[in-house]
Amino acid sequence: MALGARLLLLLLLLQVLLPLAVPEYPEEDGGWEMNRYASVQEEERCTVEKVDASISYAEFMHRYAYGRPVILRGITDNAAFRSLCTKRNLLREYGERRVRLSTANTYSYEKVDVPFREFVDHLLKPQDLNSLGCDTLYFFGDNNFTEWGALFQRYTPPPFRIPGTSGAYSFGIAGSGTGVPFHWHGPGYSEVIYGRKRWFLYPPDRTPEFNPNKTTLSWLLDIYPFLPETERPVECTIRPGEVLYFPDRWWHATLNLDTSVFISTFLG
Ligand SMILES: *[C@@H]1O[C@H](CO)[C@@H](O)[C@H](O)[C@H]1NC(C)=O
Ligand SMILES: *[C@@H]1O[C@H](CO)[C@@H](O)[C@H](O)[C@H]1NC(C)=O
Repeated sequence: MALGARLLLLLLLLQVLLPLAVPEYPEEDGGWEMNRYASVQEEERCTVEKVDASISYAEFMHRYAYGRPVILRGITDNAAFRSLCTKRNLLREYGERRVRLSTANTYSYEKVDVPFREFVDHLLKPQDLNSLGCDTLYFFGDNNFTEWGALFQRYTPPPFRIPGTSGAYSFGIAGSGTGVPFHWHGPGYSEVIYGRKRWFLYPPDRTPEFNPNKTTLSWLLDIYPFLPETERPVECTIRPGEVLYFPDRWWHATLNLDTSVFISTFLG
């Protein structure tokens, strides 16, 4: 056979065989469903400052700790933790454990306990546009640190401590388009392990316009497009390898652009 014909045959064979080798969801996504055909998008322009791992503790304290949000890039290596957070691994380790879900309104009222496997198989879905926040169940926080302790021990939190505070973890997994509507509390960090999370923030003295019973997605579609330039939030989307820091009492709302696995360190 001529070389050209052999090459052609090889190419044809590869075309048949390669798709068989690709899993349903690629492993770099941990088996979690990414929102490739996205109805919800990243911001046009990220307005949160980003710094890399060379930032010193003194600089962090001086510029951001009590000042404004910042995204720290590559500040910790959580590759080992990430490899424990694949869908397959979490289902194997924690499938039969019960997790506590909350409704996704500003003042989370309802709590529901379900086996983790039931949550992943049936409740972990993209946000339904017509649901209210109080009808949307969200897995974030209320973690059982006895049962999940071995996992959280493998997480490396951001290194910068704020005097007079101590960190508490909240771990969660949520579908694309879901999120928590505007609220505020003490300072903290938020990191996505898989997926992307879009953040909207306002300083403590600027209460945003929002309905506490509605989802972030409905706020994004109904209110956000009509905000004058001067009333726009500070915003950005974080992805694995980035940590967002929010100072004390800053208003914030979140929107998961993909199925996201995430962990926050609240500094109480
Ligand atoms: C956490 O898990 C332990 C061990 O299974 C259990 O005894 C305990 O009741 C759980 N705590 C909560 C708050 O559910
Ligand atoms: C939100 O829901 C609560 C409880 O159902 C209700 O009392 C309140 O008036 C609602 N707020 C708005 C702004 O719709």
